Amino acid sequence: MKRAIISGTGIEIPADAISNEELVESYNAYVETENPKRAARGEPPLQQSNKEFIVAASGISSRHVITRDGILDADRMAPRMTSRGDDELSIEAEFGVVSARRALDDAGLQPSDIDLVICSASHHQRPYPAIAIEIQKELGIEGAAAFDMGLGCSSAAAGLHVAVGLVSSGMQKRVLVVSPEILSGHLNYRDRQTHFIFGDASVSFVVEAIEEGETRPGRFEILDSRTWTEMSSNIRTNFGFLNRAESDDTSRVLMEDKLVMQSGNKVFKDVTLAAHKFIVSFLEDNGLTPADVRRYWLHQANSRMNALIMKYVLGHEADGDRAPIVLDQLGNTAAAGTIIAFHEHNEDMKPGEYGLLCAFGAGYSIGASLIRKM
Ligand code: COA
Repeated sequence: MKRAIISGTGIEIPADAISNEELVESYNAYVETENPKRAARGEPPLQQSNKEFIVAASGISSRHVITRDGILDADRMAPRMTSRGDDELSIEAEFGVVSARRALDDAGLQPSDIDLVICSASHHQRPYPAIAIEIQKELGIEGAAAFDMGLGCSSAAAGLHVAVGLVSSGMQKRVLVVSPEILSGHLNYRDRQTHFIFGDASVSFVVEAIEEGETRPGRFEILDSRTWTEMSSNIRTNFGFLNRAESDDTSRVLMEDKLVMQSGNKVFKDVTLAAHKFIVSFLEDNGLTPADVRRYWLHQANSRMNALIMKYVLGHEADGDRAPIVLDQLGNTAAAGTIIAFHEHNEDMKPGEYGLLCAFGAGYSIGASLIRKM
């Protein structure tokens, strides 16, 4: 078995941002226009959203999106993006390429050094040709393979898991994993329960084989990786290619029943429990206790959830140094969140210190990697 490291990371956070205040104002404007129509139909009124609730329940103050255009317009409440021709780079591939170039630069690699591209994200703009192949072409990576995969918010972690397996077995030498997350395109901004949760971000990283005895100071060696899944519909999208066959109404633009749905409260409880058990047993199987791990880069969905998981794992509360939070300014960026937390919070770690990357979410799914600074 070869040793594998994360040799570079790159992130892209879009410039456009939306504050809780703006989001709530637009949602409440929608409610004001909708409620008279609902009353006329004999339906109960929609409740207003509330910025104090959002911060208290989730820790999120703001989120970045590829474009603000259309999202806050109470008549639309969906981003407006221009459709591109088949010969143009797709929006998702373009977003992925930005972080991918940064990851290659960080690793000191040329595109020609990569022998596999995996685009692992919670949403892919289309099933085929794979977004990964477009990214491969745009970067000028020749003689390599590329494919898409996904596991909800655990997509980057699952991509890491697959990359480590392939690199350790000697089947690939350097794998580029790209997770462009454009949640704004699939979020129902008319649903009070979820309209505040997600944001957009793109992350990429390179998993690379190193020789026995070789060291790359400042990089992280991947010591072990594991994934877990259990069927649950508590976070689900029903968007898919059979929608057309299932409905007579092919004119719906918003398709609200096909957007992200979540029973947040159930997810909170189920995943908090599953994640803390998973972390403890994963570390135990590696001969470590939770106290041995210097830093936890957890999934960035909810700061309360992360605080609880850390409390269960460690037996006491953890501060932001032990388990950094980036969701306050970015929202839940799905698979990107864990990698952004890692990218922004690893330089201060000392050689030999352990860290745990752990993502969790739809599926349910969990993906974790135990890493050590070289
Ligand atoms: N503004 C005001 N009130 C709101 C609201 C909003 N935007 N959204 C929900 N509420 C109300 C609910 O209707 C409910 O009212 P009720 O008690 O009268 O029924 C109340 O607030 C509590 O709602 P609940 O859903 O129980 O809140 P919560 O404390 O569970 O927080 C989440 C909601 C979504 C922030 C939280 O459950 C969460 O983050 N879950 C995990 C998400 C996750 O990890 N997902 C993984 C996929 S990435």
